[in-house]
Amino acid sequence: MAQMRVLPGQPDAAATAAVDLRTRLAGLALPNPVLTASGCAGAGRELHQFVDVASLGAVVTKSIMLAPRAGRATPRMVETPSGLLNSIGLQGPGLEEFLAHDLPWLVEHGARPVVSIAGESVEEYARLAARLRHAPGVAGVEVNISCPNVANRGLVFACRATDAATVVRAVRQNTAGSVPVLAKLSPDVTDIVEIAAACVAAGADGLSLINTLLGMVIDTTTMRPSLAGVTGGLSGPAIRPVAVRCVWQVHEAMPEVPILAMGGILTGSDALEMVLAGASAVSVGTAIFHDPGAPGRILAELAHALAGLGFARLVDAVGYAHRPPEPPPDAGAGSGTVTDAGADAPAEGSADVEAVTGPPQVRR
Ligand SMILES: Cc1cc2nc3c(=O)[nH]c(=O)nc-3n(C[C@H](O)[C@H](O)[C@H](O)COP(=O)(O)O)c2cc1C
Repeated sequence: MAQMRVLPGQPDAAATAAVDLRTRLAGLALPNPVLTASGCAGAGRELHQFVDVASLGAVVTKSIMLAPRAGRATPRMVETPSGLLNSIGLQGPGLEEFLAHDLPWLVEHGARPVVSIAGESVEEYARLAARLRHAPGVAGVEVNISCPNVANRGLVFACRATDAATVVRAVRQNTAGSVPVLAKLSPDVTDIVEIAAACVAAGADGLSLINTLLGMVIDTTTMRPSLAGVTGGLSGPAIRPVAVRCVWQVHEAMPEVPILAMGGILTGSDALEMVLAGASAVSVGTAIFHDPGAPGRILAELAHALAGLGFARLVDAVGYAHRPPEPPPDAGAGSGTVTDAGADAPAEGSADVEAVTGPPQVRR
């Protein structure tokens, strides 16, 4: 597992502890920006041995479907260079079991549950949302639209703007207004901004970026696909640059839309990269399989990195990489009119976080 990266301007412990890590995600106030990624920590019970679920920004649960589901045949996980390929096939206990046992457990343990839902038809998503509406303790709903649409030749909802929007609209209409709905997008599309815009227009309060990329591995000994399901979803550090690109593009196009970013986050520096690209919070997924304590470590490393860069508040770093380029050092030399104040000003558009009060004291 990667070590904490040493950043310029090592902050002391007091400066790190003083960083205000609170954030807001589509109206949801979170004590810190590090969440679990759906499918990588179940419903929190196993993880709780390593990380107090109440200490996480939120717990995003494994995508739940209406009925119990056995998932795909094995083998359904294979390691790849810097990644993991899985074809679990949304194994799960079904909604009623989740509501009877998992959700109350999370609430009793002080966690903020963001419930991920998945369906094979628009109606299934609507029914899931309607049932969750009356379940106490749901902090948010994440809509996993990377599922085949049975009514449309099995085309994945997330890959067509109209299909994605129809699901999001149905979920939004059946979810309490006070509960944010996050649409989780697939990177396997030509134009992620088009899909993102369709989801927001359909009522998504925020976006989760990104789900896994479709991949495949062939075992050269057996000369057959390594996964029983043939193809699978690629996750882990291998996909991080794709995730950063998606977060960047969506934030650039819609800076007011809150983003929960995930994809290969292993360290606080990785989390910071997502924040600078425009994420208000991050989810940790594959890293948990190697290092169950990863969310707590990543949060500590993120605070350290922010302090080292002179940020007193996480929210001031959201989208900071989008600021205009600094003028060259000698620009305006002698005129006495050019300062670097504009260059240091945080990027506009972190609208879902508290108002920015001034530029951070970025060390040069
Ligand atoms: C084993 C496994 C199971 C997953 N299950 C789900 C799921 O049920 N719902 C979902 O929206 N995403 C699921 N994902 C995708 C993750 O939530 C995340 O979007 C993706 O893995 C990228 O983050 P990472 O590289 O940190 O893992 C799963 C990923 C893995 C590795």
